[in-house]
Amino acid sequence: MAVLVTGGAGYIGSHTCVELLNAGYDIVVVDNLSNSSAESLLRVTELTGKEFEFYPISLNNRPDMEDIFRNHKIEAVIHLAGLKAVGESVSVPLRYYHNNISGSIVLFEIMHAYAVNKIVFSSSATVYGSSEQVPITEDAPLGATNAYGRTKFMIEEIMRDLHVSDPTWSIALLRYFNPIGAHESGRLGEDPNGIPNNLMPYITKVAIGELQELQIYGCDYETVDGTGVRDYIHVVDLAQGHLKALEKIMTTSGVEAYNLGTGQGYSVLEMVTTFERVTGRRIPYRITTRRPGDIGMCYSDPTKAERELGWVAQKGIDEMCIDAWRWQSSNPDGYQDEDTFDEVHNPKLIVM
Ligand code: UFG
Repeated sequence: MAVLVTGGAGYIGSHTCVELLNAGYDIVVVDNLSNSSAESLLRVTELTGKEFEFYPISLNNRPDMEDIFRNHKIEAVIHLAGLKAVGESVSVPLRYYHNNISGSIVLFEIMHAYAVNKIVFSSSATVYGSSEQVPITEDAPLGATNAYGRTKFMIEEIMRDLHVSDPTWSIALLRYFNPIGAHESGRLGEDPNGIPNNLMPYITKVAIGELQELQIYGCDYETVDGTGVRDYIHVVDLAQGHLKALEKIMTTSGVEAYNLGTGQGYSVLEMVTTFERVTGRRIPYRITTRRPGDIGMCYSDPTKAERELGWVAQKGIDEMCIDAWRWQSSNPDGYQDEDTFDEVHNPKLIVM
């Protein structure tokens, strides 16, 4: 019996694989490596000492996806695979709909054919759209403001319809707030393609000297210091949230959404000063105009996850900044994976 992890080579996926393996689960990973690196999976085996099979394919590759279900006894799926850049989704929406929605539909059809109906889905606080009612609870109105967000929202809706059609489906929709930080070993972390869009990888690249200065998008929001406030959550806490959700769906049926956040909001300036204090690096910044589409304030009410999953975020922003910097400073060029498929270097990761 194994848990299939789609998108397992990505930032959140690789941390989730470590937690699953450490908890004793067998896993099978599928990832098309379009925005991730197989090197992360080698490091998962290095950190856990556990073997697993990895299929470097897309969810839209139906015959190969079917083979996975034919060849393994999959008991549940953690579905993280998907494109995730908000700006890019506005320019190439069809790519997002094809990859995220069609890929998910193929996955759900094959799950149905093989009578696998337990799934944890990687959703996002983006499904709350421009709602500024904080803290945000799971029953807040939904409505995304860009193609990426709409793919997350639509997949949630598809899964609700699946549950209506067959109430034995057991589905957890995990709405992430702002995942940052890295594995405390410094071996796993976020490795964005090109110039980062998100705050923390931008800060770490300024800290290491790769980018000159941070631009802070707006200082006229109604927040503590005028800069945007978000609910940053350590990626290892987030990964553990997947484990708790998995335990829950194994023993129940239904479809439930859960906020995964700390419940605590921090402004951009608070993040910059915290990073500077705990790392001793200076982050030059310049305040510019608001970024189109941004909202002033977004943080979660995570009490449902605590009540129903027994999950509470443990790590604070000091640890998030320290771990993000450890990852960046010990991997200045991110993952470099020329040898990834060389079995001499790594006999434990079996690439199919
Ligand atoms: N920010 C800057 N400068 C930067 C980058 C970000 O000032 O270079 C600010 C933003 O204006 C915002 C805060 O830092 O106030 C956080 O921005 P991020 O881009 O890191 O995160 P967002 O909250 O905008 O977006 C995140 C995810 C999206 C998701 C969204 C809503 O990246 O995928 O949360 O859940 F859709």
